[in-house]
Amino acid sequence: MTMIAPTDIDRHHVARAIEIAEQGRGRVSPNPMVGAVLADGPRVLGEGFHAELGGPHAEVAAIRAAGDHALAEATLYVSLEPCCHHGRTPPCTEAIRAAGIPRVVVASDDPSAHASGRGLGILRDDGIEIVLVDGDLADRARLLNQPFRKRARTGRPWVLFKSAMSLDGKVATRSGDSKWISSESSRRRVHRWRAECDAVAVGIGTALADDPQLTARDPDPAPLVHPTRQPRRVVFDSLGRLPLQSRLVRDAREMPLSVVVSRAAPRAATDALEIHGVDVIVATGEHEPARVVSALHQLADHGIASILLEGGPRLAGAFLDAEEIDEIRLFLAPVILGGRAARDPLEGEGADAIAAAVRTLTLDCERIDSDLLVSARLREW
Ligand SMILES: NC(=O)c1ccc[n+]([C@@H]2O[C@H](COP(=O)([O-])OP(=O)(O)OC[C@H]3O[C@@H](n4cnc5c(N)ncnc54)[C@H](OP(=O)(O)O)[C@@H]3O)[C@@H](O)[C@H]2O)c1
Repeated sequence: MTMIAPTDIDRHHVARAIEIAEQGRGRVSPNPMVGAVLADGPRVLGEGFHAELGGPHAEVAAIRAAGDHALAEATLYVSLEPCCHHGRTPPCTEAIRAAGIPRVVVASDDPSAHASGRGLGILRDDGIEIVLVDGDLADRARLLNQPFRKRARTGRPWVLFKSAMSLDGKVATRSGDSKWISSESSRRRVHRWRAECDAVAVGIGTALADDPQLTARDPDPAPLVHPTRQPRRVVFDSLGRLPLQSRLVRDAREMPLSVVVSRAAPRAATDALEIHGVDVIVATGEHEPARVVSALHQLADHGIASILLEGGPRLAGAFLDAEEIDEIRLFLAPVILGGRAARDPLEGEGADAIAAAVRTLTLDCERIDSDLLVSARLREW
């Protein structure tokens, strides 16, 4: 690979490609969000981003936007390595070659088995100059597509765990009441995350205690990122106990619902769920974390690249023990529950020594009305 350092102009256009890629958030999964800029020196000739699944890739959108501009001196800036395979659309490497673009600057690799540098190799063999950016811009480009990258590398979805905690670190009172610990603004934020993720998951304990809908709703006049898109709802429920009269099952024909059972689930229960339009997934494994991993593989096969895990504590603990939580967002609310039997956000086995505890890669804090939102990344893909 030709290792030529990017210029300041290159960095400027790459930053723009990453910025416009964002516009695909919540719209293109399981594809990655990608942005592209075609430029001649500082002059932008065309811009594009991947806007919908099955629609044109960012590179093609930028080439189209450049219209009749001559491209013989142009550089294409892309936030992700161009694809070289026939998927829902033809390979971008062909479109780049056909357009006669002599130089391509790339912000991040595509870790998919059918990519991994192959697109860049094809372009280089065609005599196209390839420049890879590094540092902050490369980090930003990789962070943009964590769900895509984890699914490509592991065959499992990226998991974002959210919880609303009291100031003393509790998520429910000793009687199981948790409505509402966080503020309305914080809950609105959760609805936005639901609309951005491919699936929302809870355990049967939460489904029974709260009878949630788990849909992306927005009480605010400002529309959600993608108002018509709803995440798949997923309930981890080994024995298929989810009541047929629950709000989740009642809506199952309009909004997709998967129930993850174990092999021990009675046939009558899973048949009844399926008759009501529920997709039943059988997770295998001897213990709860193993069944989490099994379910995640099957959900990824359903096209799920990102999951918002909403608890409760026992299911979240199993995800943590399985090392399947990639990011945590905790709302800390100005309320104190106390009580030995009040619930913690994460149960499971946990670490037995501080040296074995999960150290987060980052820690950020934001004020949302009366709450604090504390976010931390645990893994990077
Ligand atoms: N404040 C918050 O943000 C928040 C969020 C969510 C929930 N909550 C509160 O948390 C409480 C419910 O939490 P919970 O811990 O009792 O229940 P939970 O975590 O919602 O569900 C746990 C149950 O899920 C089932 N399950 C199936 N597969 C599993 C697996 N692989 N790993 C772990 N569990 C699996 C198990 O029951 P089976 O063996 O029968 O399948 C287990 O008992 C409620 O009070 C709710 O209000 C608070």
